[in-house]
Amino acid sequence: MTLILLGAPGAGKGTRAEYIMEALSIPSISTGNLLREAVKNQTFLGLRAKDLMDAGKLVSDEVVVSMVKDRLMEPDCANGCIFDGFPRTLHQAEELDKITNVDMVISIEVPDEVIEERMTGRRVCQSCGATYHISSAPPKIADVCDKCGDALIVREDDSPEVVRQRLHTYHEQSEPLKGYYEAQGKLRMIVGTGTVEEGQKLIAKVLGIE
Ligand code: AP5
Repeated sequence: MTLILLGAPGAGKGTRAEYIMEALSIPSISTGNLLREAVKNQTFLGLRAKDLMDAGKLVSDEVVVSMVKDRLMEPDCANGCIFDGFPRTLHQAEELDKITNVDMVISIEVPDEVIEERMTGRRVCQSCGATYHISSAPPKIADVCDKCGDALIVREDDSPEVVRQRLHTYHEQSEPLKGYYEAQGKLRMIVGTGTVEEGQKLIAKVLGIE
């Protein structure tokens, strides 16, 4: 199965993707994580992407689509995957339609005010990318990743000003994708304001794996 998770920054795409990965045994492709890895490794692509990411703007379609094409060639994607944070523009969606068949698109709906609160409490593992929240999804030991034991950090683009810009970018460039996938009969919308556990139940229901 190939799924897309749509939603504003901080809507819970990464958190839901971790759950679906385990439930369906398919990998998650997070373009944000791939880009952050490139920035960390100071690759040519990473150096080009960093300023745009830090400013809460989108990296070019060309760069992101080529990264996704490369990732899809890897053997673990043979039975499908979850796209987290991709596509984000109509052009990316059209390009994705040329390379793979998408079965379902789940849009996680969270109002902007809730997003701003969530982002201030988010912590991420600098090694494996696992996501936590200081109050709603804390690690067992403060600032240490439950999965790999490495340190948790605050993402550079989680400052309030950058979060506001990311929300603006989302509403302007990514939210129209809901109409694109609704026209294809693939869109499912779920409420993303409940607890993490409630969110998992909603996802399981939509996927028919309750
Ligand atoms: P990316 O990394 O994709 O960021 P994003 O879409 O802004 O999404 P986030 O990772 O911030 O949030 P999320 O929805 O995964 O939420 P999470 O589960 O962490 O992209 C970063 C940048 O890369 C972009 O700004 C852009 O520059 C570039 N980029 C990436 N993809 C691109 C593309 N396709 N094209 C162009 N540029 C691209 O949850 C958030 C927090 O809330 C966590 O702390 C979590 O624990 C908590 N939480 C989650 N669910 C709940 C809940 N139900 N209740 C309470 N807390 C919750």
